Amino acid sequence: MLEDKPVLVMQGRIHYYEGYTMGECTLPVRIMQRLQIPTLIVTNAAGGVNPDFSPGDVMLITDQLNLMGMSGLNPLMGPNLDELGPRFPDMSQPYDRELCNLARTVAKENEITLQEGVYAGLSGPSFESPADLRFLRLAGADAVGMSTVPEVIVARHGGMRALGFSGISNKANLDGSTVTTHEEVIEAGKVITPKIEKLIRAVLRRM
Ligand code: HPA
Repeated sequence: MLEDKPVLVMQGRIHYYEGYTMGECTLPVRIMQRLQIPTLIVTNAAGGVNPDFSPGDVMLITDQLNLMGMSGLNPLMGPNLDELGPRFPDMSQPYDRELCNLARTVAKENEITLQEGVYAGLSGPSFESPADLRFLRLAGADAVGMSTVPEVIVARHGGMRALGFSGISNKANLDGSTVTTHEEVIEAGKVITPKIEKLIRAVLRRM
């Protein structure tokens, strides 16, 4: 129980770059669906592509760019199991508008600055080149990471609603003048985690 609501909390996740299949990466979401859990709340660490973002910021994910899917990596590929969801699921609202509004409200109430934007999902594990990042910015991305998009696709396929937060761990290096390291991602997590915890607890209290 968290804030008097029954929750299933994952300690970490499985990433495609670790060598698992898309199906394996999204199996936890399928298990949640089988347990009739109606809402998926996802979090991730992401690089800030929007120049207004700084490391330590939290971004409400309002939409996603399925770049893995565009290159043929969609967790729904293969025969569709109709009892899980439709063959061609709608993706007009990957992140639930009502839950986004609730997140905005509780962020204000708790005086947490909440950035907003589009999360672009790449497979990783290499970080993006400056040209990759300029492409992502032109394509409308505000943040970039190596997860989340497949899980949210499976959640929507199975009729769950989704809410997502990105912790901006580093600034995208659009001109190649700085390097991105895993260490800075971990370090930024220390200021981001308490903010995201506060937001999720506040959202749960109001759900
Ligand atoms: N790129 C991709 N994934 C990430 C980044 C990044 O800059 N930071 C944290 N996860």
